[in-house]
Amino acid sequence: MLTNKKILLGVSSSVAIYKALELIRLLKKQGADVQVMMTLNATKLISPQLFQAISGHPVQVELFAAHGHDSMPHLISSQQVDLMLLAPATANLIGKLAIGLADDLISTAFLATKAPVLLAPAMNDQMYQHPIVQENIAKLRLIGVTVVEPGLGFLACGSYGWGHLANLETILLYAKKLLTIQDLKGKKVLISAGRTVESIDPVRILTNRSSGKMGLAFAKTAFLRGAKVIVISGAVEIKYPEVPNLEVFFVESTQEMNVAILKYFPKTDMFISAAAVCDYAPVQTLLSKHKKSKNKGMIWNLFLKENPNILGKVLQKKKSGQKIVAFALETDEVFKNAKKKFMSSGIDYLVANEPGVIGQEQGQFIIFEKNHNEIVFLDKFALSSLIFDRLGV
Ligand SMILES: Cc1cc2nc3c(=O)[nH]c(=O)nc-3n(C[C@H](O)[C@H](O)[C@H](O)COP(=O)(O)O)c2cc1C
Repeated sequence: MLTNKKILLGVSSSVAIYKALELIRLLKKQGADVQVMMTLNATKLISPQLFQAISGHPVQVELFAAHGHDSMPHLISSQQVDLMLLAPATANLIGKLAIGLADDLISTAFLATKAPVLLAPAMNDQMYQHPIVQENIAKLRLIGVTVVEPGLGFLACGSYGWGHLANLETILLYAKKLLTIQDLKGKKVLISAGRTVESIDPVRILTNRSSGKMGLAFAKTAFLRGAKVIVISGAVEIKYPEVPNLEVFFVESTQEMNVAILKYFPKTDMFISAAAVCDYAPVQTLLSKHKKSKNKGMIWNLFLKENPNILGKVLQKKKSGQKIVAFALETDEVFKNAKKKFMSSGIDYLVANEPGVIGQEQGQFIIFEKNHNEIVFLDKFALSSLIFDRLGV
């Protein structure tokens, strides 16, 4: 998504300035070409030399360039970019942008650009909560600037509150969203992810090896393409991004997942069933820890009961227009077993894979759809994009 995208990064003099260096590295790693502009004050905190070294381009600071350089750098730089990213953005810079002041390179380039603008404020929590700063941010939002809310935590000044620069992964996700076609805008996507966990006693559990990576890939892709996403998540090895329009509800057992999915399904356009649920649960969960037997070789019989068939229940409630994608994990005769499951199910797409794909970034998948099936080798993000393309959005 960021490959060959030209990003103009405006850096102002916040204590979080050092994080902009890592941000450049992450953007470049994703294939973006990053051109840095710094405020004069920012150059007092970190030398432009370092930004030049990391970005691979000369850094622009002066509006009135020296003889022999671009005579109007604010126009040249801002009009040839795909995205203007202001990170970190000081209260001062935000104030200038909100009133249309153009007294330095970044604020002038802001007025001159047609590219989408992403703003990541960073400041002391009192400054951030100040009504003037809040009003300025609201004004910028109103004219279409996307603002990545600062995070909550301990600030460089020692106080605790909202103000530190948002997580870099979150900033990256917003940047990608601004450069992605919003073909899922207005759609509600429900995703089940991760693994369910059934308690045997207060300490022992039954579960499986699912990592949640598949559900995360679908959730991120749906978010990037503009959908409103609800994730019902069991246990996972991944972290969900904290962004608006991506809500995550954690559940533990298959029964809890069943209740949550059935609650949200009626109002969704698409349901991606990516969770690996326990098909069976102990008949009874013991209230105290099951003691180890003193008799050597003693066998502990654990009695299991069948869990609700979530997909089956969802299919009973499916209304026309609602799309369902499910996954099948097979260890034997993958194609034959998955095809049988698909033919008898009534779902729109079934993606079959083998256990080797669990926890991996990529793998081989068989996609079953009406009158067609195909084998693909993709990473989980590419697979999720392909499925959303196919869903005909
Ligand atoms: C060490 C240091 C850290 C600062 N950190 C911040 C900050 O995180 N956020 C902020 O809005 N201002 C911060 N300031 C104040 C700004 O640097 C000051 O308002 C400056 O005028 C902003 O100029 P600029 O927006 O042109 O970079 C800091 C100042 C200093 C000296």
